Formats: sequence, structure tokens, C-alpha cells
Amino acid sequence: MDHSNYVIDEMISAKSIAARVEALAREISEHFADTDKLVVVGLLRGSFVFIADLVRELDLPCEVDFLETSSYGDGTESTREVRILKDLRSEIEGRDILVVEDIVDTGHTLKHVIALLRSRNPKRLEICALLDKPARREVDVNVTWIGFEIPDKFVVGYGIDYAQRNRNLDHIGAVRFLDEKKG
Ligand code: IMP
Ligand code: MG
Repeated sequence: MDHSNYVIDEMISAKSIAARVEALAREISEHFADTDKLVVVGLLRGSFVFIADLVRELDLPCEVDFLETSSYGDGTESTREVRILKDLRSEIEGRDILVVEDIVDTGHTLKHVIALLRSRNPKRLEICALLDKPARREVDVNVTWIGFEIPDKFVVGYGIDYAQRNRNLDHIGAVRFLDEKKG
């Protein structure tokens, strides 16, 4: 089936995202105020725009690292199996960690990643996700900071893709497929 025939309806404007990122960064900076150096861990690839904006608003000494897991492939359905494609470069034992994710959907990805990172005995580990789709949750995850709760719609933009497209949109939009018969 060809899914290239779709439009994107704006859901969250670039301006609202910027304001929310600033507020989140303020809370995170307060929470980790006494850290010697925070390790900000971005989950590739969807979080790359969010993490770039977020770290520039953090009032903390920090470093940035990335972790990549396998996920949806090029479709819109969640696969339950989570594999690590690229691991961290940093040792995180005894350190302060902030995991930055684009969307919490079923929760499987974060649950797996958090279990893995906790097994390495960080000092503190918190999670910040830009978007949350609570209606889709299958497993419990304790996300410390959430940017926006959104309805059960497939979204793109601000780093988030559909089949590797639309990551460069400056806002978050919902994908709406067009029925070709109706034009
Ligand atoms: P989970 O394991 O089901 O929670 O899936 C989380 C991952 O699925 C996110 O990090 C995204 O990469 C991807 N994902 C979930 N919902 C969407 C969406 O609406 N658009 C694009 N990717 C999504
Ligand atoms: Mg992802």
C-alpha cells in the first residue's frame, strides 16, 4: 500500500514547543542543580531536535550522548521487540542521567532502555519526553517530565518522522492520509 498520499495538520506550533522546552529546562536545571555534570542521553533519531533545543536552555554543566534502538521500521505500528543499535559512549555508573525521548507511545522502548541504563548503576536517572500518548500505553513507565500529552494520532515534525520524512518540520503535526478515490 502506498502511504505517500498524506497531509500534515498542525497540532503544536513551533512557538508553543519553544515555550514548553524553556519551562522543562528550568525544572530540569532545578532538579539537577547540584550535579557535577549531567549526562543527557538522547534516543536516536527522533529526539535530535528536542535535545538540541533542550540542552541550550539547561543551566547546568552537561555532556550529550546518544543511544539508538530499533523501532517502528517505516510503518506506523509499534513493534514490541526493542534492540540496541548504538550504545552510549560514556560510562554512566555513579553519574546523573537525563534520558530524552521524542514520544512515549506503548512504553516498550523506554521500559527497555531504562532497565538497561539502571543496570549500570547511575546515581540518578530521570526521563524527559516531549510527547506522551497515554491512550496507547501497554507497559508502565515513570516519565519525570512530559512536554505535551497528545491524542492517539500519528505525528511528525520537530525531529519525528514518518518513513524518515518530515523530521525537519519546525512544528508537530498529525499525519492524515488522503483517500485517493475521494481525491
Ligand atoms: P513505544 O516503544 O511504543 O513507546 O514507541 C516509542 C517510539 O515509537 C518513539 O520513540 C517514536 O520513535 C515512535 N513513535 C511513536 N509514536 C509515533 C508517532 O506518532 N510518530 C512517529 N514515531 C512515533
Ligand atoms: Mg524513537
